[in-house]
Amino acid sequence: MTDLDLLHTPISDLLLKHPYAKDFFTLLGLPSTSCHTTVKVFFDSLDQDHIENLGLVRDELCSRLHDFIVQMEKLKTGKAPTLQSITLCGGRNKDGHPENISLELRPGDVVSVVGPTGSGKSRLLADVECLAQGDTPSGRRVLLDGQPPDESLWLGGEQRLVAQLSQNMNFVMDVSVREFLTLHAESRLVDDIDAAVTQIFSTAVLLAGEPFTLDTPVTALSGGQSRALMIADVACLSASPIVLIDEIENAGVDRRQALDLLVKQEKIVLLATHDPLLALLGQRRLVIRNGGIADIIDTSDSERTLLRKLNSFDRKFSELRDRVRHGQRLDFDLDVFLAECLSPAEQGQLE
Ligand SMILES: Nc1ncnc2c1ncn2[C@@H]1O[C@H](COP(=O)(O)OP(=O)(O)OP(=O)(O)O)[C@@H](O)[C@H]1O
Ligand SMILES: [Mg+2]
Repeated sequence: MTDLDLLHTPISDLLLKHPYAKDFFTLLGLPSTSCHTTVKVFFDSLDQDHIENLGLVRDELCSRLHDFIVQMEKLKTGKAPTLQSITLCGGRNKDGHPENISLELRPGDVVSVVGPTGSGKSRLLADVECLAQGDTPSGRRVLLDGQPPDESLWLGGEQRLVAQLSQNMNFVMDVSVREFLTLHAESRLVDDIDAAVTQIFSTAVLLAGEPFTLDTPVTALSGGQSRALMIADVACLSASPIVLIDEIENAGVDRRQALDLLVKQEKIVLLATHDPLLALLGQRRLVIRNGGIADIIDTSDSERTLLRKLNSFDRKFSELRDRVRHGQRLDFDLDVFLAECLSPAEQGQLE
């Protein structure tokens, strides 16, 4: 379709063929009652200040719409963006000292990011999320397949490239869990929306300690429940090749299950954490000090062995947490508890 054809198409016809274009018109402030007008009539009716406030130019509206449709069609028909590697090119720490690193990450790599509070772990994840090009406080640069990112990735594809579970999450919309998940599934162009909503919801309920329903308003979810919902959403729906996770341990969800879910696909996972179990899950950990990557530690074989042992202790600890949650007493024999921590099979594995 040429730009001219596009201009003379009634919006309602366009939406029948390209339902996602509604987002474009909604952004411009189209009232839902005006869909019978043509694209041109609608564009002409827009206030100049309104267009400028959105950072747009009147004469370019049509080509922007055209690009948007082409981009969305590509996303719809294409698979998730394939990515061979991301490269993190060092910037500087808070004192301006250079990091002098270049770190290449490939699908399947799980890298933990550790460091004291305030050292810059979230900053590092944010640098990856925005595909920094020396334009953030750290001055880092992120390359995709060895190249600076293509601009089209910022124009709507980035949501697909990076999925982030951030430290602070607030829902701003007052909708039910069902509506929230439906909106997400729609925006990611899922074919069977009901199936996706059911799958994400049941996964989230498994992860969250306390049950909730599809009709619960998202603003009424507890911190743990909303985190569980977002983890399930990213794990089940997102095709992003890069997943960023910021301090999952404070989320009040089953963190091991959550992580298993997230890393089961071949993704590049960056995980900021203070938790030894999660830190050891990565093949490497980046040590952040004073805003800079101060060290890169490869997880050793003995640490992996330790991790298996710690995991069985952690499982027993989860049982204790559940008992506390359910208001039960913790009357038990510590020696028996410790002996139970390792099943005979696990004891065999460790010897
Ligand atoms: N290289 C850097 N140069 C300048 N400022 C930085 C740098 N790295 C981090 N900062 C700033 O330092 C502050 C603390 O960083 P950040 O929030 O990333 O810490 P954190 O390790 O995630 O802490 P927490 O464990 O509490 O979550 C932020 O304001 C961040 O922008
Ligand atoms: Mg942080």
